Amino acid sequence: MLTKAVRAALIGVVAAGFFGGCGTKDARPVIRLLTGPDSGGGFKEIIRQFEAARPDLRVELVEGPAATNTREDMYAASFMAQDGAYDVVFMDVIWVPKFAAAGWILPLDDRFPAEERADFLPGDISGSIYQTKIYRVPMQSDAGMLYYRKDLLDAEKRVPPRTVEELAELARALQSPPDRWGLVFQGQQYEGLVCAFLEVLWGFGGDVIDAEGRVTLDSPESVRALEWLAGLPTRLAPPGVTTYQEEECRQMFQDGRAVFMRNWPYAWTLCQKEGSPVRGKIGIVPMVHAAGKTSAATLGGWGYGISAYSKHPGAAWSFIEFATQAAQQKVFHFRTGAIPTRKSLFDDADILKGSPHFKELYTVLLAARPRPVHPRYSRISDILQRHVSAALVGQLTPEKAIQDAAEKIRQALQ
Ligand code: GLC
Repeated sequence: MLTKAVRAALIGVVAAGFFGGCGTKDARPVIRLLTGPDSGGGFKEIIRQFEAARPDLRVELVEGPAATNTREDMYAASFMAQDGAYDVVFMDVIWVPKFAAAGWILPLDDRFPAEERADFLPGDISGSIYQTKIYRVPMQSDAGMLYYRKDLLDAEKRVPPRTVEELAELARALQSPPDRWGLVFQGQQYEGLVCAFLEVLWGFGGDVIDAEGRVTLDSPESVRALEWLAGLPTRLAPPGVTTYQEEECRQMFQDGRAVFMRNWPYAWTLCQKEGSPVRGKIGIVPMVHAAGKTSAATLGGWGYGISAYSKHPGAAWSFIEFATQAAQQKVFHFRTGAIPTRKSLFDDADILKGSPHFKELYTVLLAARPRPVHPRYSRISDILQRHVSAALVGQLTPEKAIQDAAEKIRQALQ
């Protein structure tokens, strides 16, 4: 028999365990967000700082797959189910028209007024607007560029290439496969391939859609561009390039196993880290173009929006506001190499110390070109991914790939 006092004490312990103590429900609102793999620990550090500043809120990070299109599908599936799985939407620039047109994300005009936007890069802001409203606060700017091994070029007294012919000639002269290949780029069938392809396409004077929305992909310029790109694997690029995303390229270039690399600016910071085999031996230039044409960079970039199904839009906003401040963008930059979106950081002494190339980078970012801005961009991209990839692996001739892709894009946009 338990005495009255023991019984009362036991009930107290059980009750405390149930309502308050460890292993019990934390009453704080949880802000959930889905990102790619947090390899540099940038998101975890921002979340740690945010939770320290706001002990009344909790952030749950879901680290998803690296490919942007796979994460887009995960967000889209959750929105269609209206399951409220994510509060903060960590968004690629290309998702904005689709998510906004579907009503899946909240307009942020009241929270993020024009005065606040003035410190951000203009391309990142315009990529966050759909029709007349803004849906995203930019936090990482991106534009594609060509990395080169400065030491190898200097040793031969060569200057970085400007045209596709110069690139091919230098790559051939300086490669020694399989130890060192001429060029690596994102050749896997996914969004990154479209970014790399568009830079070549624009650099040959071609385009996918014109200003009036007409599909102009089936042009001789496009065929020549794809012929050039599809001619790279096994000659100047490793056979495995058709399976590479950004990180495979970065690792190979950083290991000293490629003379040139097409990639985003984040790779610079990582390649220059202490212990990197190519530290102090690299340079960047705009992507090459066909003779008589001009270089083009694909505009990329990431930012935060709020899910229309979030139960805590106010808390989600608090996190977004915090994470996109200059101080947090700096932390994120040093952890991951990501390029900030605030103009003021391109003059920041701490950043310029490790990244003196930021001044030139700024110019590249200002000139970067958006991918077709359309609510059905993911359809357009999917068609491009399949056809460009088929040409790369030799399943379709470049000419047939371009013709078929143009026809399918026309149908998709009808
Ligand atoms: C980068 C860019 C993004 C692009 C992706 C493709 O993350 O910022 O815009 O879609 O690469 O892999």
